Amino acid sequence: MPPPTVLIVDDEEMVRRPIRVCLEEAGYQVVEAGDGAEAQLRFTEGADLVLLDYRLPDTDGLTLLRRLKTQAPDLAVIMLTAYSTIERAVAAMKEGAFHFVHKPCDLDELKTLVDLAMETARLRRDVKELRERQSAPFAFDQIVGASAAIREVKELLRKIAASPASTIVLFGESGTGKDLAAKAIHFNSARASRPFMNITCSALPEALLESELFGHERGAFTDAKQRKLGLLELADGGTVFLDEFTEMPPALQAKLLRFLEERAFKRVGGLEDLRVDVRVIAATNRDLEEAVREGVLRRDLYYRLKVLPVRMPPLRERLDDIPLLAEHFVSSFNREFRKRVRGVSDEGLALLRTHPWEGNVRELRNAIERAMLFAESEQLERADFPSLGAALPRAGFQLPPEGIDLEALERSLVVQALEREAGNRTRAAALLGMSRDQMRYRVEKFGLKD
Ligand SMILES: Nc1ncnc2c1ncn2[C@@H]1O[C@H](COP(=O)(O)OP(=O)(O)O)[C@@H](O)[C@H]1O
Ligand SMILES: [Mg+2]
Repeated sequence: MPPPTVLIVDDEEMVRRPIRVCLEEAGYQVVEAGDGAEAQLRFTEGADLVLLDYRLPDTDGLTLLRRLKTQAPDLAVIMLTAYSTIERAVAAMKEGAFHFVHKPCDLDELKTLVDLAMETARLRRDVKELRERQSAPFAFDQIVGASAAIREVKELLRKIAASPASTIVLFGESGTGKDLAAKAIHFNSARASRPFMNITCSALPEALLESELFGHERGAFTDAKQRKLGLLELADGGTVFLDEFTEMPPALQAKLLRFLEERAFKRVGGLEDLRVDVRVIAATNRDLEEAVREGVLRRDLYYRLKVLPVRMPPLRERLDDIPLLAEHFVSSFNREFRKRVRGVSDEGLALLRTHPWEGNVRELRNAIERAMLFAESEQLERADFPSLGAALPRAGFQLPPEGIDLEALERSLVVQALEREAGNRTRAAALLGMSRDQMRYRVEKFGLKD
């Protein structure tokens, strides 16, 4: 890498010379300019830092500072000034100057400042790059699927991310991508550079959950030796993801509701109302109305959250996405396991389409992970998904070595089907792939009439 370049802009050669010598000794590359026009020219050729005199023959330093900063917002600029006033300094800092030095310059001080500014700029670049790399896994295109159902959801998530909406509820069965969606919203919003905080409400007892979320004051309870900031405060400017929020005890749901409505809360043991700017994404795998009926979810909280609900569709409603998802997971495990599997065979895909996928995309991901670990063929075949076969007796039930009592098995299956369908013979028959007459015959044969 070439050494970093410093551009010195001052109309006096006498000022520029010693600075140049000092910075070149420190390993910098130095270019000089005597006025604003030349400065602009040299700057276009590339400079990492600019030392800028306040008074120039053709312009003033503040104007030039402003111009350079619009061209390169991250540029480090140190102002040089013969006679400094507080107002000038403040004005320069407001325009984004890194610092200012008095002339004649103390060269040691100047060199230290240049080092510091360069280091700061480098850190800022690193942070930016890191942040981009970190958020890449949460781009919307990580939510895979081309079905109408998932395209609609992605469209809605995109709109939400770009909007100022402060409260969102994601609901859908386990494994439908609620975590993924919450992160996609955050990392594609104006809040992306602020924290994303995540808490699973069912994982903690009430008191702990309350202090995790809202923080507590010193002495709020026996173990509270120090004030502690809650997630809401820590996430100021960012997003808090409340997973399984329906499992929060009612008193906490009330406190959460107050926060959602007034954006204010108190730390545990605190008197002061605190205000923070946080987007709340709440998620649950329960049916919301049902949770209200069962008394699990407070009605008032439900109404507040109902404003912006997003339903993550279960995988069985979008079976057409299975090939795409399978391909996505195969290539991601290829990378992870250093394999070269070429996807799933047609027969394998046909099997994947018949599975009920109660665990949704997570279950599919796990099935492919397992298949990839053991697969020896180039493509994943039907036989590479043995666990799916077992869930589907008709597709792959195997006779155990000791044989089987077919009558007893049949009776047990008929009983289970009738129980599941609350005695409705037509539906029980459908579950077992037989006609109503065949069912009636078996009910009589096994003496199952009530
Ligand atoms: N549409 C999707 N595209 C790609 N991966 C998905 C999709 N939906 C879910 N996943 C993956 O499935 C797993 C479970 O998703 P997650 O967001 O944790 O579900 P939930 O929070 O709803 O239980 C994760 O590995 C996630 O990356
Ligand atoms: Mg989850």
